Amino acid sequence: MANNLLEGKRGIIFGALDENSIAWKVAEKAMEQGAKFVLTNAPIAMRFGEIDKLGEKTGATIIPADATSVSDLENLFEKSMEILGGKLDFVLHSIGMSVNVRKGKHYTEYDYNHLTKGWDVSAVSFHKVMSVAKKMDAVNEWGSIVALSYIAAQRTFPGYNDMADNKSYLESIARSFGYYYGTDKNVRVNTISQSPTPTTAGSGVKGFTEFLNFAEEMSPLGNATAAECADYTIMMFSDFTKKVTMQNLFHDGGFATTGISEKVMKNFIEGRYTK
Ligand SMILES: NC(=O)c1ccc[n+]([C@@H]2O[C@H](COP(=O)([O-])OP(=O)(O)OC[C@H]3O[C@@H](n4cnc5c(N)ncnc54)[C@H](O)[C@@H]3O)[C@@H](O)[C@H]2O)c1
Repeated sequence: MANNLLEGKRGIIFGALDENSIAWKVAEKAMEQGAKFVLTNAPIAMRFGEIDKLGEKTGATIIPADATSVSDLENLFEKSMEILGGKLDFVLHSIGMSVNVRKGKHYTEYDYNHLTKGWDVSAVSFHKVMSVAKKMDAVNEWGSIVALSYIAAQRTFPGYNDMADNKSYLESIARSFGYYYGTDKNVRVNTISQSPTPTTAGSGVKGFTEFLNFAEEMSPLGNATAAECADYTIMMFSDFTKKVTMQNLFHDGGFATTGISEKVMKNFIEGRYTK
């Protein structure tokens, strides 16, 4: 479905690790829609991921950057503008990592060093990305910046652990930074709150398959896939959403506003969920 929605636009896409990554799908769709972009990921992901393949497929240059390092980000924005031939129109922050989740630490017994690291990677990095971009005046007027979130920012999902708190912080940064970026530069900032999606980051959460199946049965439209999330992200980068800013946008098949679905009720009635 190529409509050249992003023709003439330039951007940076953070977070494509392998073909399951949401950022990977965004890169493929951005290319289809006529955008030029740079791909970036943490230096360590260059070794473990498959980003090279995506670079070849989309013709994008890859610039490693740890999103928690301001100097890496400065280098990334400077080089991206050089390579792409001008200021940027969109940025995707598709980054998440919790050391407490990785190490199986229970929410009530955090390791606080792990907490700080995960918070920096998953939430504060969004502030750093925008702070660097704004200081360097790297984004054109009416540019669009999107980060990916999850409903555990609003409602409790045991097992999502400190990522829930990180997502709350991330969404708050979108509102607060979005205010200043909007008033000073007419740049919009939003988060997209996506359904559970089978990716490396997603599958790291305890009970992920059950999460996924439950959300599928709860959502009137079913779970949104990574490719559908990419379509929505492209729309947010396009000129059709110029006045949408400081929002957390649910992209979850209706999960966020469904109290209970008939499918889930049926499972109780027929005894499929038992204690
Ligand atoms: N998968 C889900 O169920 C789901 C649901 C809602 C929101 N999200 C969010 O979507 C985003 C993308 O995750 P995904 O599901 O595509 O998984 P993914 O594992 O493919 O992507 C996460 C990315 O973060 C990158 N990253 C980690 N530390 C970094 C650092 N210091 N600097 C730069 N990059 C770093 C990883 O290398 C990886 O590419 C995350 O914010 C995630 O929380 C995922």
